[in-house]
Amino acid sequence: MTADITDLMKKLVSLCKRRGYVFQSGEIYGGLQSSWDYGPLGVELKKNIESSWWNFMVSTRPDVVGMDSAIITHPDVWKASGHLKNFHDPMVDCRKCKSRFRQDHVEGDACPECGGQLTEPRDFGLMFKTQMGALEDDSATVYLRPETCQSIFVNFKNIVTATRQKLPFGIAQMGKAFRNEITARNFIFRSREFEQMEMEFFCLPEETGKWFEYWIDQRMKWYFELGIKSGNLRTRKHDDGELAHYASSCFDIEYTFPFATNGWGELEGIANRSDFDLKAHISGSGQDLSYLDQINNSKIVPNVIETSGGIGRTFLAVLLDAYREEEVEGRERIVLGLHRSLAPIKAAVLPLSKKLSVNASEVFDLLKPHFPVQFDETGSIGKRYRRMDEAGTPFCITYDFDSLDDKSVTIRERDSLDQIRIPVETVVEKLRDLMDNGWSAVR
Ligand code: GAP
Repeated sequence: MTADITDLMKKLVSLCKRRGYVFQSGEIYGGLQSSWDYGPLGVELKKNIESSWWNFMVSTRPDVVGMDSAIITHPDVWKASGHLKNFHDPMVDCRKCKSRFRQDHVEGDACPECGGQLTEPRDFGLMFKTQMGALEDDSATVYLRPETCQSIFVNFKNIVTATRQKLPFGIAQMGKAFRNEITARNFIFRSREFEQMEMEFFCLPEETGKWFEYWIDQRMKWYFELGIKSGNLRTRKHDDGELAHYASSCFDIEYTFPFATNGWGELEGIANRSDFDLKAHISGSGQDLSYLDQINNSKIVPNVIETSGGIGRTFLAVLLDAYREEEVEGRERIVLGLHRSLAPIKAAVLPLSKKLSVNASEVFDLLKPHFPVQFDETGSIGKRYRRMDEAGTPFCITYDFDSLDDKSVTIRERDSLDQIRIPVETVVEKLRDLMDNGWSAVR
């Protein structure tokens, strides 16, 4: 049985709260709209996504280095980048019910909520302003970064000097970004505070097309590695009218988000930013940010291919893709079929009876230094299996009365429900093998 698409989001949001993935921020005060807190399992899943991205994009590559910049950025950065001038959305208000919409999210001039007349569109600045220092005048105005990549461009020269990287090479970072979205909705899909994973790949202008194709390919590969089903992902080229002010061409990687109007929603953008940003900062700062091409002994301003994805959107796509409801032996169960590399808890140790808790905890103690594992002794064994299925835990290790004599435990796999019996003394080695190679290769 597959979850009905219309209430899939409701079910997922409820599971996220029940199992400690995501909570509404400030819930006890009525909740802050579009702000979300990641709970104990959520923070682990988010960290697993982040380290997978960092591994794929930085650690395993000789040609990409990382950085981590300040969130409050020099205001001149946003002047030079064009954000102060261009980073706004057209907004319309309903004259009757006062609801506010992005103009490009509504059709016609009647309110989608109540049918009322909409106002003429007005520009709405998307950057969050704050003040730095004791003064409260305009000279103290600073902005929270609306994208992480500008600090990469601003630090281009520092990084080339420090690392002696030669073209082509990339600079990557992930971290918080802030946008005062007119309408933030659809759970963590569109929020005002979110996290990005961005990489700017600097290359010779004549090689831009080649690297553009290469990175579209690589980025799709990463989403497949997270276990997302291939039929639920696609790439889509932007129409000219959609392009951001810095992009000369852009492809989105899209996922079949159930709330998306045409069935597909953006996960990540891969853009040809040409030499737009470096030139903008050369002109804004008066500094020489060019690159010395030692082969031709000439100074050039490289072109840039950007890959820019959202951690929250990847998190949501991974959960939606993994969610399923099914009937097993006459009973319904909800399963998060997360890839084992992403699962927050890798295995749960379950004593069949509380009388076995002390012995079973020895198995837990063996595993704990090596894996994120949980010990659960409360409720019937069936209930505990279902809790772990919902949490996305790939393996349950059951300690039963026979274990006292044969010094063995049973490992149950979440998706196939297959079981194997193994000696306790091999439990760490076996779980490592299962984590590396998967159930079908190992059992
Ligand atoms: N530096 C380019 C850039 O920021 P973008 O398309 O505006 O491009 C990149 O954003 C990615 O950041 C999006 O594909 C999306 O995954 C994520 N993102 C953007 N706005 C978001 C929001 N309000 N809430 C959650 N994620 C968002």
